[in-house]
Amino acid sequence: MKPEIVKISQISPDQSVVCIVGKNEVPPFLNLNKTEKEYALKQLRNKVELVFINSYFKCTYIVKVKEGISGFREKEELRKAAAGMKKLLKSNNHSELVISSTSTYKGAIEDFTEGLVLSFYSFDKYKTKDEDEEKKNYPSKLLLYGDTDKAEMKWLTDLTDAVYFVRDLINEPVNHLNAAGLGSAIEKIGKSAGFKVDVLTKGKIEALKMGGLLAVNKGSVDPPVFCILEWNPAKPVNKQPFVLVGKGIVYDTGGLNIKTGDYMASMKGDMAGAATVTGVLYTAAKSNLPLHIVGLIPATDNRPGGNAYTQGDIITMYNKTTVEVGNTDAEGRLILADAISYASKYKPEIIIDIATLTGSAASTFGNQAIAMMTNADRKYITLLEDCGNHVYERISELPFWDEYGESIKSDIADIRNIGGREAGAITAGKFLEKFAKFPLIHLDIAGPGMLKKDDHYRLKEGPGSGLRLLATFVRKLAADYKKLK
Ligand code: BES
Ligand code: ZN
Ligand code: MG
Repeated sequence: MKPEIVKISQISPDQSVVCIVGKNEVPPFLNLNKTEKEYALKQLRNKVELVFINSYFKCTYIVKVKEGISGFREKEELRKAAAGMKKLLKSNNHSELVISSTSTYKGAIEDFTEGLVLSFYSFDKYKTKDEDEEKKNYPSKLLLYGDTDKAEMKWLTDLTDAVYFVRDLINEPVNHLNAAGLGSAIEKIGKSAGFKVDVLTKGKIEALKMGGLLAVNKGSVDPPVFCILEWNPAKPVNKQPFVLVGKGIVYDTGGLNIKTGDYMASMKGDMAGAATVTGVLYTAAKSNLPLHIVGLIPATDNRPGGNAYTQGDIITMYNKTTVEVGNTDAEGRLILADAISYASKYKPEIIIDIATLTGSAASTFGNQAIAMMTNADRKYITLLEDCGNHVYERISELPFWDEYGESIKSDIADIRNIGGREAGAITAGKFLEKFAKFPLIHLDIAGPGMLKKDDHYRLKEGPGSGLRLLATFVRKLAADYKKLK
């Protein structure tokens, strides 16, 4: 269960408290006795980063922020420090925990709380026995003490709710969440958050002639869906919407070019982009952002089956471009391309797609950076990079020169869905760009979007990477739109 985040204005002497300090000090609101205080100060002077005092009826945790770092690195250190405390906190079985801070930067309490909440997540809905009893021993309430601003607290609650939602979706295996199931989950959250959702089913997708999505779906017994999400507030700051496109491959076997060895293992997460886009619309609606946003999510599984699409097939895409299939495992770009050309109907200010698209991006950046390729104006990119640093979902840009488009030329169709062996992340991006009539920001989250093991508060399998980045980006856009233009 996700802990509730509550603001308090007083700490009672029997409450367990985390206090973040910038210098060696023990503030009076911790209600420690003289010996405890002396002990704490001595520990701090000895450069202990976490001082733990067990006073039997309550616990006190003094967290010293690392010296010599500032800005977004300091923020991230606090999130990590919080995640590092989860075992200790659990072992002390608090039902509530106060989080406070002295003299460190504004927002320290929120950052620490964010790290803590995100590290408390677990995906255990299929466990029928409570063997993991201790999981329940997390505090169910986090009480924020100090000058935390109301709007920031609400944002933190909505954003972490969205991360939990996104992780749940990614962690669902395909036998419990197929494309139609993903469509229903999106409909349901749209209703609860207040954004519009339209789920196009197979007949409509056929009528629209979305050849990319239909080709990938051919080997499946489950029909595809194409989801249209829309947050259109009363007085948006923008005239043309921002369109977000998310890859919704609910399982990627590779198709007839089947994945071998271990490569298929994590592929239930190949819809992380779709989950992320949904999460962004959720936070936008929940926080009533004055920004018009549309989300497009093509979804299907990619399997070899009776009539599966094959290597050598030539398919006609939604925008009439013909594509020679060089590899059925390069399916993401086929379904995304249809969505990206569909986006034209909105005359978007920008199209942003997010996808677990290439092994190449994952091997280039590991799980540390989101690979970005773009032809959009730099003012958006600077803002996006800033947001990435701020939430520590950092982006790194790859070149997007036209020469990289040469390897996806085809002798028998307009283009091919694969390039050569080199620069796979970039040629995939170039493929998508061919379908974009409006500026494109392409984000490949193949590395950070699926993790084999926990990375501090980014938890394994579906960490939800990219959500905090894009949610913060649209929030900033909404707030600073006029300045940016
Ligand atoms: N879903 C994969 C990409 C992927 C790989 C995501 C590893 C996360 C971790 C994608 O559909 C894929 O299979 N891409 C191929 C493309 C290739 C055939 C051109 C790849 O990257 O190997
Ligand atoms: Zn895939
Ligand atoms: Mg694939």
